[in-house]
Amino acid sequence: MKFLNKKYLFTPGPVSVAPEVLLSMAQPITHHRLPEFSEILKEIRENLKYLFQTQKEVYFFASSGTGAMESAIVNIFSPGDKVIVIVGGKFGQRWLELSKTFGLDPIVIDIPWGRAVKPEEVEKVFKKTPDVKGVLIQACETSTGVKHPVKEIAEIVKETEAVIVVDAISALGVYELPMDKWGLDVVITGSQKALSLPPGLSFIAFSDKAQTLAEKSKLPKYYFNLQKEKKAYAKDTTAFTPAVSLLFGLRKMLKRIKEIGLEKLFKHYQILSLACRKAVSALNLEIFSEVPSESLTVIKVPEGLNTNELLKFLRNKLGIVFAGGQEHLKGKIIRIAHMGDQSFFDLLIAISALEMGLNLFGYPITYGIGVKVAEEILFDYIKKEYL
Ligand SMILES: Cc1ncc(COP(=O)(O)O)c(C=O)c1O
Repeated sequence: MKFLNKKYLFTPGPVSVAPEVLLSMAQPITHHRLPEFSEILKEIRENLKYLFQTQKEVYFFASSGTGAMESAIVNIFSPGDKVIVIVGGKFGQRWLELSKTFGLDPIVIDIPWGRAVKPEEVEKVFKKTPDVKGVLIQACETSTGVKHPVKEIAEIVKETEAVIVVDAISALGVYELPMDKWGLDVVITGSQKALSLPPGLSFIAFSDKAQTLAEKSKLPKYYFNLQKEKKAYAKDTTAFTPAVSLLFGLRKMLKRIKEIGLEKLFKHYQILSLACRKAVSALNLEIFSEVPSESLTVIKVPEGLNTNELLKFLRNKLGIVFAGGQEHLKGKIIRIAHMGDQSFFDLLIAISALEMGLNLFGYPITYGIGVKVAEEILFDYIKKEYL
């Protein structure tokens, strides 16, 4: 029997959305070709530049994040182009599948799931194959919780003819990823993860270098066509009917981000993730990710613990939704996301539930030891920042 109705979403997408953002999407629909909508669009475009930390335009589509990944491929490359693909998890695999689907010639840097790619590994491929056209990478590989060294790899790519294409779906809005400053050529995100919105929107921005390549791209494209969107933006509109209600939510969320400020927002997620990792260590559990992202904490499940039953218990009986592993990591890891509308107290709830679940499923721990550690870290920060 369920003894709580309240659901807490700690999955690495979709994530919990702030009530004020949800309410903003309940307003009556506006026609997207009216001048009043153009004004909304202008505001959204400006604030997206703030989020991406770029002077370039940020385009969006009515699609999940994969749509923007596809858009990057079809707008920049041509059949047979060599691309380096970092595959260290489910979403690196997606880059690979997309490259194959569109007839590119992928060179895979295969890394064990849980490890971050080393910049030297990328450099080595460039030395061997100088005619590479692009590097496809995740900022945060959500399936393993690993943060890849995007800044360092961008520095390598900058010296070549290639572009770096960064899937920041579970990163942009959680930690520092300044597009212009780091020289990132293509940055992609989606609505339902780091951006703390419901699913259904994807975003993409192109550097000058990427736009020059885009002018020569020979891959077929229609909906995800950068040139079409560029023309529409010049007239303060979009090429196709946008997801109007989701854009109302986006407008509200971007305003919220600007009011909080990126620095403070990043600090919030940094403290949440730090507190979670320390709590997990206090419970004598190991962190799975070699270089952990602030977006989620990935826990190595101890031998013999039935992860599926544990996650089912938390979900069905306590209303706490964590994520398990994908593919060969099924049953081996637990993923607790920090993305979305998460307060410090939400994290204490997550850790408390984890402690209960662990005890119930044969991993005895003293109640409250994880919560205690997290509480101390969070309150230290609160005292410093707010008192
Ligand atoms: C890093 C990363 N890339 C790509 C995707 C794919 O996004 P979507 O499921 O929104 O198409 C996800 C999430 O599923 C993700 O976390």
